[in-house]
Amino acid sequence: MGGLIRIGLLPGDGIGREVIPEAVKVLEAAAAAFDFALELTWYPFGADHYLETGVTLPTGQLKRFKEQHDALLVGAFGDPRVPDQRHAAEILLGIRFELDLFMNFRPCRLYDARLCPLKGKQEADVDFVVFRENTEGAYAGVGGVLRRGTAHEVAIQQEVHTRRGVERIVRAAFEYAKAHGRDEVVMVDKANAMPHGHGLWRRAFAEVAEEFPDIRTRCLYVDAAVAEMVRFPERFQVIVTNNLFGDILTDLAAALQGGLGLAASANRHPGQLSMYEPVHGSAPDIAGTGRANPVGAILSAALLLEDAGQLVAARAVEQAVAQTLRQGIWTPDLGGSASTSELGDVVSERVGSRSFVES
Ligand code: NAD
Ligand code: IPM
Ligand code: MN
Repeated sequence: MGGLIRIGLLPGDGIGREVIPEAVKVLEAAAAAFDFALELTWYPFGADHYLETGVTLPTGQLKRFKEQHDALLVGAFGDPRVPDQRHAAEILLGIRFELDLFMNFRPCRLYDARLCPLKGKQEADVDFVVFRENTEGAYAGVGGVLRRGTAHEVAIQQEVHTRRGVERIVRAAFEYAKAHGRDEVVMVDKANAMPHGHGLWRRAFAEVAEEFPDIRTRCLYVDAAVAEMVRFPERFQVIVTNNLFGDILTDLAAALQGGLGLAASANRHPGQLSMYEPVHGSAPDIAGTGRANPVGAILSAALLLEDAGQLVAARAVEQAVAQTLRQGIWTPDLGGSASTSELGDVVSERVGSRSFVES
């Protein structure tokens, strides 16, 4: 990507429109401080646009994204005025599926022990990453409804697991572990109750593990996994799991960090256009009040910088966030009184002044 990063911005709905401008503020501060350029293109896609025009994503838009951008930074999609959330499915899941962003990388890191809801846990106790399969599983959209609205209604929602799809996400988790000095990968499934689909996961996991003899492995059923994550988060380094379990586990992981407002994610297909977004949704309950926590969006922008090759800038953004949180500059979800833009200002000033450098 060189010295220019071309980013497509889709703030979406609700607080997505409040947190993405803060992430952009931080990106601009990073570009000025670390000497790279940004080309930013804002897109209006979301509930308002859909309700006004009937269009979720225009025909050919994904192709244009690929041609025109190096990365997409996305807020959130979901609006009570669209009861079936059709626009969210078509835009968000459309991007993930059609761009084949199979790797949903969701890091979980505790920046300040005071933010952890568990008693007695220190920063070092909560530091793991989740590799969530992002293109199949329960999200494949296979199924249908028969005799809708009658007493004999039947609904079928199939999970889809392909050998290729499972192997590539499992391999990504092992490769990450190897590259980052993590010595164990845990797979989370429900192979006891779902032996067909999750049995395939177990077989693929065992085979891929053989390529990484230095990395230990464990398989956990999802029910046991959530209990262990809450009691002993320090036991986890790298988790790999299917699409639905990854969705659920990463809201739990966000809670371990201090809340949904703090969690970041990357939707990757290495070598191709990737998409970055906070883990949280559009939070209609607080939208428009200036109370949204922008940290998840800002840390997602840091993941974008990392993938774009701006490693020092990415590290600077993460450290600026960590310092800001440790200083107790918190939005109301964390028990503080800072507004969305105040927090964004503090982080971007810190990145801009390069005062982040820690010993
Ligand atoms: P949500 O993440 O929007 O909100 C859950 C709770 O967390 C709410 O109380 C909210 O106020 C709080 N919260 C979330 N993010 C916050 C932040 N940054 N700062 C402060 N508080 C924050 O989940 P939900 O309520 O289940 O969903 C709302 C809508 O968002 C739904 O339409 C849902 O489908 C959609 N959604 C979208 C995405 C996405 O686009 N990636 C993700 C999750 C949910
Ligand atoms: C997420 C969200 C989405 C998901 C929804 C909005 C479809 O919860 O990104 O975690 O389930 O993947
Ligand atoms: Mn989710």
